[in-house]
Amino acid sequence: MNVTKPRATLCAALMAGGLAAFAAAPAVAQKKPAEIQAALDAAYAKYKDLQEGANADYIPALAKVDSKIYGIALVTPDGKVYTAGDVKSEVSIQSISKVFTMAKVIEDQGTDAIEKRIGVDATGMRFNSIVSVEFAQKALGGPEINPLVNPGAITATSMVGGSSRAEVWKKILDFHSDFAGRPLTVNQEVYKSEAETNQRNQAIGALMYAYGFIKSDYLQATDVYTEQCSISVNARDLATMAATLANGGKNPVTGKQVMKSENVPEVLAVMATAGLYDDSGKWLYHTGLPAKSGVGGGIIAVSPGKFGIAVISPPLDAAGNSVRAQKAIADVSNALGGNPYAAAAGK
Ligand code: DON
Repeated sequence: MNVTKPRATLCAALMAGGLAAFAAAPAVAQKKPAEIQAALDAAYAKYKDLQEGANADYIPALAKVDSKIYGIALVTPDGKVYTAGDVKSEVSIQSISKVFTMAKVIEDQGTDAIEKRIGVDATGMRFNSIVSVEFAQKALGGPEINPLVNPGAITATSMVGGSSRAEVWKKILDFHSDFAGRPLTVNQEVYKSEAETNQRNQAIGALMYAYGFIKSDYLQATDVYTEQCSISVNARDLATMAATLANGGKNPVTGKQVMKSENVPEVLAVMATAGLYDDSGKWLYHTGLPAKSGVGGGIIAVSPGKFGIAVISPPLDAAGNSVRAQKAIADVSNALGGNPYAAAAGK
């Protein structure tokens, strides 16, 4: 089925339908700052003592991260920042970076580049599934995965243009930094730890090269992907990155237009489809929010036109998603009317 619309038509439709609906809904901007802060404080207190999940340990450095780090940050389109708990401690961004590298490829090459080369469909399988690649190739006959699972993410990283590894890396790091509104750096311990143990991702890279999805040096692509996953962020950074997506690609804190507003809907669509992997459907059912998790313990979520929110808490569930982050984000969003599908109800 060809559902491609001319860009102008798509944007106009979104403005007329989706965004107008947000404008009519009880926007979070209409919530008093005290109400927003109270929602964060309540979610923080409710899950502070929750003892569920465990740090990721397949990357040895992640097992050593303090499991007690727990912070919530929310940023509104007018650039106001609300926080609760520890929003200073940094963790590695991990798979949340996949969103921004996908966005970079879309910015540079257009939305077709991702859809035609990688696909934009849920795999229903784990984020590092090799079977999903085989299944998409053999049973479905082509690009039927997405840029948020490892095979698609390593491919997306390989698509960032540049004449040297250093040039590619600078583009990726600068793009992430523009979203966060400050120069981000890499956690070298995490990078080294993952680089020493990422043979599975190297195999995935090789498979994507063998099937022609990756057209350049797959080991370099896997290595750059590993470095991008090791970018160090706190909850405030992540919330600002999410808020930039909520605000049509314009960082609400720095005022910089980081990506074209017309490219944001496709980024959010892939997050809604696959952001929490095999639990994406359940997440969307309960919150309606495009989101993305990382095995470092962060989750970002976007309520378009209303807010970007992030929680960091390292203990993960079986699908690789932070337990506290899922619960806290759902509570805050539901308290503030963040669900885009429930605009009229203000849910
Ligand atoms: O490739 C990996 O396994 C990690 N660098 C990232 C995985 C990840 O964050 C999955 N997310 N929940």
